[in-house]
Amino acid sequence: MSIQQQISLKPYNTFGLDVKAKYFVEVTDEHQLIEVLKSDIAVNNELFILGGGSNLLLTKDVDALVIKMSIKAVQVLEDFEEEVLLAGGAGEEWHEFVMKSLELNCFGLENLSLIPGCVGASPMQNIGAYGVEIKDRFEYLEALNLKTLKIEKFDNAACEFGYRESVFKRKLKGQYIITKVVFRLSKSPKLNTSYGAIEVELKNQGISNPTPKDVSNAVIAIRQSKLPDPKEIGNSGSFFKNPVVTLSVLNKIKSNYPDVVAYEVDKQNFKLAAGWLIENAGWKGKTIGTYGVHKKQALVLVNYGGALGKDIYKLSADIIASVEEKYGVKLEREVNIY
Ligand code: EPU
Repeated sequence: MSIQQQISLKPYNTFGLDVKAKYFVEVTDEHQLIEVLKSDIAVNNELFILGGGSNLLLTKDVDALVIKMSIKAVQVLEDFEEEVLLAGGAGEEWHEFVMKSLELNCFGLENLSLIPGCVGASPMQNIGAYGVEIKDRFEYLEALNLKTLKIEKFDNAACEFGYRESVFKRKLKGQYIITKVVFRLSKSPKLNTSYGAIEVELKNQGISNPTPKDVSNAVIAIRQSKLPDPKEIGNSGSFFKNPVVTLSVLNKIKSNYPDVVAYEVDKQNFKLAAGWLIENAGWKGKTIGTYGVHKKQALVLVNYGGALGKDIYKLSADIIASVEEKYGVKLEREVNIY
């Protein structure tokens, strides 16, 4: 473990943006992390914690010490009659972790297959897909307090999870480094196949009595059909959040656009499919040289190779302005911008 200088971050962000880190170090356990944090370079520079780099748009060189979290390990912490507490190191690749959980017959994460990123980042934005969010399976996490250099535990309530939100994105931003995440998983399958696309995919495959592995495979097939593989086309998954609006705003939009796609959050609030708003505003598949809006999913911005983060940022600003002008709804970015 040594701190390097002027390192390209291209291999470390799924958009494939070629910016430089002033300082860069990779840590593989908590002790190394604490050592690094005590170093002069850490004390005298800003810190930038990097997980899988899959929810990140780098618009400039990073004038900081970048700490790449590579703390690995998957461990059964408790084995109860019905359930298991399964821990993952922060640097464990999320999809690998889900696959290992299935191999261990620990169920509940199958709907979250193939989400890019790592275990440590999963609670930051409460990742979710196909009717499941990690908060539904989460037991606690361990995080290093950057002031005291002590590990602290956060239970579900302490994380203040919301839609793509947690306390670590808001009031505790920049104050902790997540080192381990523990999930409460079930020994017997409790499937959630209510999300339309999963039902359709299982039906197409002729599966009427699915196992968790079948659900995982269905999710993988759906994601592969719609979302670009970051190994082939740079991207960060959904670039925007689906906006939540009140019933009266929804009705106003519906009066002009009766086909708008919306899901009920509660009686008064509805989540709009941002992908629909963007597509219907004419952006889907729009390509500007080396970057653009994905052809199969308008929520995803892509780098075909060699684009600059600031250009992709400008594209996102243009989309936000266009959607606001058309529907009166302001989209929020889901990805972190540097
Ligand atoms: N739609 C369009 N055009 C598009 C894309 C979507 O009209 O180009 C409409 C369709 O009607 C579709 C609906 O939007 O039925 C919903 O689309 P989809 O099922 O693809 O889901 P999403 O709302 O676009 C969200 C998450 C995804 C997650 C999927 C599946 C957010 C911001 N995104 O996308 O998460 O995989 O649901 O659960 O909540 C991510 O966060 O990076 C991500 C990929």
